[in-house]
Amino acid sequence: MTSVLFICLGNICRSPTAEAVFKHKCARAGLDIYIDSAGTGGWHHGEDPDERAQEAGHLRGYNFIGQTSRKVTKNDFVNFDYILAMDAANLSDLKSACPSAYLGKLHLFLSFDEQNMAKDVPDPYYGGQGGFDHVLDLVEAASDGLLLHLTQ
Ligand code: 4NP
Repeated sequence: MTSVLFICLGNICRSPTAEAVFKHKCARAGLDIYIDSAGTGGWHHGEDPDERAQEAGHLRGYNFIGQTSRKVTKNDFVNFDYILAMDAANLSDLKSACPSAYLGKLHLFLSFDEQNMAKDVPDPYYGGQGGFDHVLDLVEAASDGLLLHLTQ
């Protein structure tokens, strides 16, 4: 089974949103893909996704059931096929930790949205609720691109 791991900094805002959206889209498409998310930092280990991320996601019909924050591990580089970073800083941190044999698994998530010039999903943590809607817009578009990539 193909597996996808979404990565951000805290694993409470962006990557849980990507996990929720991509799980929803894969289920709707009847695609059996193993999907998880993690953070490059471990400060929020064990926490639920941010309330604001959940609220924005629920309004669009996504659920965050079973999600708790965790830090990326060495085993993740072995076990996952696609390891998708929300921004350039996340990607840089992943590259520093990733054994060279697995560097090809690392990508910017938004690189799967060919229509979008943006490279990074901006960190919404210190902003208002609008930032979480913007994250959803970017994540939904890139999820569609990733789905296309995996089914072609
Ligand atoms: P995330 O957002 O990386 O999208 O989960 C953040 C969450 C927490 C912090 C920073 C970004 N923080 O500094 O605690």
